[in-house]
Amino acid sequence: MKNILVTGGAGFIGSAFVRHMVEKYPHYTIIVLDKLTYAGNTDNLLPVHDEPNYRFERGDIADAVTVKRVLEHYQVDAIVNFAAESHVDRSIMSSHAFLDTDVIGVYVLLEQARALGITRFHQVSTDEVYGWLAEGDFKETDTLQPNNPYSAAKAGGEMMVRAYHVTHGMYTTITRGSNTYGPYQYPEKMMPLFITEAIDDRPLPVYGDGKQVRDWLHVDDHARAIDLVLHVGAAGEVYNVGGENEQHNIDVTHRLLQLLGKPKTLIRHVADRPGHDRRYAVDCTKIRALGWQRNDDFESLLAQTVAWYQRNEWWWRKIKTGEYLEFYKQQYAQRLADAQA
Ligand code: NAD
Ligand code: DAU
Repeated sequence: MKNILVTGGAGFIGSAFVRHMVEKYPHYTIIVLDKLTYAGNTDNLLPVHDEPNYRFERGDIADAVTVKRVLEHYQVDAIVNFAAESHVDRSIMSSHAFLDTDVIGVYVLLEQARALGITRFHQVSTDEVYGWLAEGDFKETDTLQPNNPYSAAKAGGEMMVRAYHVTHGMYTTITRGSNTYGPYQYPEKMMPLFITEAIDDRPLPVYGDGKQVRDWLHVDDHARAIDLVLHVGAAGEVYNVGGENEQHNIDVTHRLLQLLGKPKTLIRHVADRPGHDRRYAVDCTKIRALGWQRNDDFESLLAQTVAWYQRNEWWWRKIKTGEYLEFYKQQYAQRLADAQA
């Protein structure tokens, strides 16, 4: 592998992967292809901007002409696809963009790669494709039962990856990651939303009873897992990547408030997310066998994450304007008004 195309590399996890790869593999060229949707942000890539083995192209993975041009121009050897519409609440408001990118976009990437004889393809997927379970954990062989339009679209993308492996012999791999947290996460997701809202003494909208369980994985552990699977993962295989760190949402919320020195009175229990998955958990035996280990110090990683948002207001304050405020109003205004009534 020499020239690696990272689609969606200007997003939260994609940019962490790019920063990691550019530094670790100076003999590779890392090319980002990103549409720069509302979630894409070239500020996330400032740390690698001047590195000689980094390139950036703006474009849509669902646009075959652009994809073909970029693959040919950089003589790409491998594709790692992070590009996606990634927020469950937005998929409930409107699903079309999720199908365009998370299903059609994956197909276009696969087909253009196949046509040019590029066989290495890694798809970044999610533990949400399994649905939820009350006890135990999901194995890679379990049935996919996605419950919201986002996870259904991600499952659709995965099925195309599987088909291109079986039918066309492409060397594909898939990782199914759990809830990821850390620096540079768009402040629509629970952790950065609650941290940045609490900094401004604004209410934190906890959905329902807050007893839902998420399995928190640090973004650098997630990026290292994808690097590992890209290099030593077996063709056609799927690997769970979990934090093995289950937390109730309400407990995470309390901890964030403690770290920020803010009162619990900021918490509002608001109307629940429709179809809200109650609990996620994945078995990570398979990726551990490849040599992956997560950092298990959630307490200090959480504290570092909070400190990053405190130190980097320049990064998130300019995001929380314009379209963001429209989304915020649509998602939360009525919920918060009802919660206060
Ligand atoms: P994100 O929303 O922060 O970033 C997505 C990136 O993809 C943005 O830079 C955006 O501009 C780009 N993009 C969107 N549509 C595009 C298109 N059509 N063409 C090119 N670029 C496009 O997402 P994230 O949280 O970093 O997630 C990255 C990947 O990891 C996604 O595939 C997501 O499903 C998966 N994942 C996320 C998590 C999580 O907790 N955030 C966990 C497991 C898996
Ligand atoms: O599990 C992996 C998935 O994790 C990824 O595939 C998704 O891309 C990513 O967005 C994330 O999905 P979630 O829906 O779990 O993440 P989110 O941050 O939106 O929500 C985390 C939990 O917090 C969830 O139970 C819903 C709850 N929540 C979220 C928001 C935004 C609230 O209670 N209030 C909120 O305002």
